[in-house]
Amino acid sequence: MTELIKKVVEKLIEAKSVVVFTGAGVSAESGVPTFRDKDGLWQKLKPEELANFNAFLRNPDLVTEWYSHRRKIMHEVKPNAGHYAIAEMEKYFERFTVVTQNIDNLHRRAGSKNIFELHGNIERNYCIKCKKFYDLGDTYPDKAIYCECGGLIRPDVVWFGEFLPEDEYDGAVKAAKSCDVCFSVGTSAVVFPAAYIPIYAKQSGAFLVEINPNPTDLSRMADVVLQGKSGEILPLILSEFKKQKGLL
Ligand code: OAD
Repeated sequence: MTELIKKVVEKLIEAKSVVVFTGAGVSAESGVPTFRDKDGLWQKLKPEELANFNAFLRNPDLVTEWYSHRRKIMHEVKPNAGHYAIAEMEKYFERFTVVTQNIDNLHRRAGSKNIFELHGNIERNYCIKCKKFYDLGDTYPDKAIYCECGGLIRPDVVWFGEFLPEDEYDGAVKAAKSCDVCFSVGTSAVVFPAAYIPIYAKQSGAFLVEINPNPTDLSRMADVVLQGKSGEILPLILSEFKKQKGLL
């Protein structure tokens, strides 16, 4: 592991532009459940009944309650050492971009600034009729909620069958195609188009590093696979980087 981390840091020292692509695993050590692990959400629940616009119209009470439950968990947890290491890294590079599939806002809370959120953000909600935005703060409704105009209010997250927010995706693709080093952290990398990000980076010549306790479809493509938890490995990379840069 030490040798592999040194290899990654060598590339980082030369890099001008870095992309960190993250998934649910980066928040696992904070206590946010992942989707496809043994105890993941999609083992117990059917995505088509919860993360889908027609399901929301069919049963807005259930979907609203489910997102309230998740938003409450996300409010109660804190960013972990992995999020903080990513946020600190941003200071040391000309261009540094976080591209996340997570809706939990933990990268921002850890201090990351340049973030593309491909699947939305659970903190934002909007009316499906007039598009007015709502901040629900610390209220966690267990039934559907309605706008002044009578429209249903939904979370501003991407559901199955929906398009990704165009600006976020375009910005992420641009960053991926021009980066020198790309990390794929805590994601099974099976949900497209988001999972094109590390692929585009690699195809455009970036050095691809995967951080995950388990192998994924991307592992074969990665230049280095660091097998383990992101909350442990990312701080090791950061501290080796600072050591080699003379910042420690
Ligand atoms: P998944 O649940 O598919 O994958 C989580 C990954 O994190 C797995 O590969 C785990 O091995 C890894 N993992 C678990 N603990 C970890 C840790 N401590 N450190 C690092 N890695 C760890 O979650 P995503 O890849 O994020 O989409 O799923 C992608 C999308 O599928 C989500 O954004 C969501 C879901 O359906 C939408 O809701 C649109």
